[in-house]
Amino acid sequence: MSSVVRCAVIGLGMGSGHAKGYLECPDAKLVAVCDLDPKRLDKFKEHVGADGCYNDHKKMLRELEPDLVSVALPNFLHAPVSIDALRAGAHVLCEKPMALNVKAAQQMIKEAEKARRKLGINLSYRFTGPARALKDLSDEGFLGKPYHASTRWTRRDGFPGFGSWFGQKKLSGGGPLIDLGVHRIDLAMWLMGSPEPETVSGSAHYQIGVPRAKATGKTFDVEDLAAGFIRFKNGASLVFEISWGNHQAQREKMGTEVIGTKGALVHRNEGEGYDFVGEYFRDLKGHKFNGRVHSAIGSIASAYTEMVRAVKHNTKPLADGHDGLRIQRVLDGIYKSAKLGREVKV
Ligand SMILES: NC(=O)c1ccc[n+]([C@@H]2O[C@H](COP(=O)([O-])OP(=O)(O)OC[C@H]3O[C@@H](n4cnc5c(N)ncnc54)[C@H](O)[C@@H]3O)[C@@H](O)[C@H]2O)c1
Repeated sequence: MSSVVRCAVIGLGMGSGHAKGYLECPDAKLVAVCDLDPKRLDKFKEHVGADGCYNDHKKMLRELEPDLVSVALPNFLHAPVSIDALRAGAHVLCEKPMALNVKAAQQMIKEAEKARRKLGINLSYRFTGPARALKDLSDEGFLGKPYHASTRWTRRDGFPGFGSWFGQKKLSGGGPLIDLGVHRIDLAMWLMGSPEPETVSGSAHYQIGVPRAKATGKTFDVEDLAAGFIRFKNGASLVFEISWGNHQAQREKMGTEVIGTKGALVHRNEGEGYDFVGEYFRDLKGHKFNGRVHSAIGSIASAYTEMVRAVKHNTKPLADGHDGLRIQRVLDGIYKSAKLGREVKV
């Protein structure tokens, strides 16, 4: 594809970031936005015009035939709306988690293959500068053989609005594990070289959210903390802790550490927010090397620019449907294991 990539965005919460990303990308043109909420549409009217604002995604796909569609809807709509877009001939960048379950994720991949269209998944922590730098180190063999990792994203009190789709299992697929864990477990596996998961053992706890929702009459039936252990086919292991709320000092703790036979890599937040740092450690001939990896601001393409590039130059998205499916298998397995109270095969 030589000309500009005509982009559309469905869902304008997180999707407003996609729309802004396309507006800033020189190879993209934002042609339409779609949301049920007219106030959210209004914010993009000056960019796409009244004719580019839709509340019916099927009508939008039919009338404008965009090249690339971002799907940033509540989780239960990811698979059906992505499939509508693929069948309409568009490439798709779908928000994480890819789908509610493995079956729906597999269906999305099948439809993308049938339509010969690209399916990218916004596993956005891969796109942070330090993560890209660490991945380059990992790919160059810095770790030696990665054999263990730990990863966490725990919040002191960071529940999404009570009563929204986030806290309803049938609409979201689960709580913080599928919402936050998807990012940090994926990041750990990616830095480990994407080994194939074999078994998982997980627990899900319902100590804070469910009673709090009950007291306020809101619907909430997902976990507020999940923890567990993943075993990979190559013998490597990964432990994880994920929560929307628990008694901890910091507001937000994020950290992913991958240990190999030659060195270790760390991606973590600095302070309590969303400033990230990448670190590396290695013992060599008695010398202890500690360092930080930096990425020049502006040198790292966002998920949106990357997807536009993949469409324009026919390259593989940094995170595609198969990456989405790999982490979806793990998430499904953890929920199953938590329910059964034992380790399960992935
Ligand atoms: N990658 C990230 O870091 C990241 C961050 C936040 C959210 N997300 C993901 O983005 C997705 C959306 O989350 P959010 O926080 O924006 O949720 P949200 O509820 O704030 O926004 C969803 C939007 O979709 C609209 N919508 C619902 N049904 C629709 C339909 N049938 N047609 C058109 N519009 C419809 C709603 O009106 C709403 O504006 C979720 O899957 C979430 O996991 C990803």
